[in-house]
Amino acid sequence: MNKQEKLAMVESALEEFYGDQQFALSLREAVLYSIHAGGKRIRPYLLLEVLEALKVPITLAHAQVAAALEMIHTGSLIHDDLPAMDDDDYRRGRLTNHKKFGEALAILAGDALFLDPYALIAQADLSSQAKVDLIASLSLASGSMGMVAGQVLDMEGEGKHLNLEELQTIHANKTGKLIAFPFQAAGIISGLDARLQEDLKYIGELIGLAFQVRDDVLDVTASFEEIGKTPQKDLQAEKSTYPALLGLDEAIVFCNHTLDRANAKLEEISRLVNFDKGPIVEIVESLRINA
Ligand code: IPE
Ligand code: IPE
Ligand code: MG
Ligand code: MG
Ligand code: MG
Repeated sequence: MNKQEKLAMVESALEEFYGDQQFALSLREAVLYSIHAGGKRIRPYLLLEVLEALKVPITLAHAQVAAALEMIHTGSLIHDDLPAMDDDDYRRGRLTNHKKFGEALAILAGDALFLDPYALIAQADLSSQAKVDLIASLSLASGSMGMVAGQVLDMEGEGKHLNLEELQTIHANKTGKLIAFPFQAAGIISGLDARLQEDLKYIGELIGLAFQVRDDVLDVTASFEEIGKTPQKDLQAEKSTYPALLGLDEAIVFCNHTLDRANAKLEEISRLVNFDKGPIVEIVESLRINA
């Protein structure tokens, strides 16, 4: 199955979930506005690619788990952009949710996108045990033990000089855990042994760290057209970022080095188990920053 086919399955899982549900029309419009705003879909894509690398034939249920993950991610972006948080006017090349629908509805659209995914996973055609494990992992990656905690630390780190370890903790939580989830989820679905599941998750954590460092670098170097959001925002907000701490060149080296480490781990796993690492390496390479 190629990338387009995989992403089409994720889109239909999203559409089907909200498709014929009759709920508050304004909420529906606000939720679907951000869902269909043209995100890169790297998290759901990773999940389906890792499953395929593990030789699991992809089904609708897997696309539903991938869609659930993208819903949480999208909700996190809506809240991240709010005036009380990063106060951004543009996201995915268009007005942010609160700019379009007002703050109250944007907060509620984010709430919906944090809660709906659990029903979607619960409805999927997978074993009950796998679903419980997936729901627990997604909750831990997203809530007080994951993304939300990272967002709090990110906010509290504004205007402060954090050390590398503190910054790494922020990035691991606000971004790393939702990018590690596809690897964890693929491990759960394919029934890998615990040790290999940990190895896979670690690869996801490395890619997640590199992903946020790359985002920090792009904030400094890229244009609105390239990133679909207002550049140079982190400096303005005195955010703790890798370029702020290490300088731009070192941040780029750090990002690329972290990707090298992910590739080395992928190589290691492919020697332990029947794992076609090629497509994942391709995703890793697409994140490399050419200085
Ligand atoms: C943006 O994530 C927020 C970060 C964690 C850096 P993405 O860069 O994946 O955003 P979309 O989904 O493509 O808009
Ligand atoms: C976002 O980090 C992390 C989450 C949304 C959880 P950023 O604040 O750097 O993301 P962008 O740059 O607004 O996409
Ligand atoms: Mg932020
Ligand atoms: Mg932001
Ligand atoms: Mg950013």
